Amino acid sequence: MSNPSLLILPGDGIGPEVMAEVKKIIGWYGDKRDLKFDVSEDLVGGAAYDAHGTPLHDHTMAKAQEVDAVLLGAVGGPKYDVLDFSVKPERGLLRLRKEMDLYANLRPAQCFDALADFSSLKKDVVAGLDIMIVRELTSGIYFGEPRGIFEEGNERVGINTQRYTESEIDRVARSAFELARRRGNKVCSMEKANVMESGILWREVVQKVHDEDYPDVELSHMYADAGAMQLCRWPKQFDVIVTDNLFGDLLSDAAAMLTGSLGMLPSASLGAPMANGRPKALYEPVHGSAPDIAGQGKANPIACVLSFAMALRYSFDQGAEADRLEKAVEKVLADGVRTADLLGEEGVTPVTTSEMGDAIIGALDASL
Ligand code: IPM
Ligand code: MG
Repeated sequence: MSNPSLLILPGDGIGPEVMAEVKKIIGWYGDKRDLKFDVSEDLVGGAAYDAHGTPLHDHTMAKAQEVDAVLLGAVGGPKYDVLDFSVKPERGLLRLRKEMDLYANLRPAQCFDALADFSSLKKDVVAGLDIMIVRELTSGIYFGEPRGIFEEGNERVGINTQRYTESEIDRVARSAFELARRRGNKVCSMEKANVMESGILWREVVQKVHDEDYPDVELSHMYADAGAMQLCRWPKQFDVIVTDNLFGDLLSDAAAMLTGSLGMLPSASLGAPMANGRPKALYEPVHGSAPDIAGQGKANPIACVLSFAMALRYSFDQGAEADRLEKAVEKVLADGVRTADLLGEEGVTPVTTSEMGDAIIGALDASL
């Protein structure tokens, strides 16, 4: 049997630096666990624009459709602000999500014990936090038509459309309920049914999926603004949160920060199963390309490393190896190893991106 295939798209800014650490870890799994991948690498975002004049070349798109999983670093940067909207780096990422039909975006927000002091919230509010945001990723206002900037009388009007079909809501709701069954068995669905028709439909469909197929899972509904407030007030009330594309974008950044640093959080974007039974999948850190610190060895590679752990779990059926990697990260943090984003303690010197990667490999070695 051939090795599972991985397409690596480091992208822009700190993307290549954090991905370099993941490549070391992929190498470690090949050497020490005989878990080998066929790895190929390509360009996305600004890097692809610089090379090809497009943020995602068709041959890269085709490759992404063929592999077992895609691992992406980050896209974007101030250098590309002047570009036309249609070729901005972010369009490359959005095309991947849309054409691979990666409708369920899993964004865990987990607070590592060693980092509970780094949160801007009180320690007892975040210690032990473990929630999962399931964000719809291929529809809603990100993709709805009509969209654009149009002339209307003597001024211009900017238009985006929030649009959800029943089947789009149905399938992401199922993803959330399935996940909840393997976790705390609780789902909170967030929308704005008080002001948006799409929110009314969202609530109805989630409730119907629940009543028909997941009555064993505890379901609640919340307006997304109240949800944001509750996330800051007492986040541990949540297990799985399911929400639309735009609210999910906002709520997941807020949830990420509860854990102390945006540099810690991975994500998985999953679609329907392929012929081999694996879901179409793309894994990426929640953080962006952080152009202000790019190229300085300051970036925290943990979010990208944990994204690879999610790939081990969700694409490659290697739950035990995913646990091993997550425990290695936990161990390194417990030992006090800190990149610059995690400082705050007296007398701690930050390690570089690459030293953090080496420390994780050390902890992996120690786990054997
Ligand atoms: C995210 C990012 C993206 C989004 C951008 C880079 C297009 O903020 O993944 O959360 O808005 O979805
Ligand atoms: Mg975002």
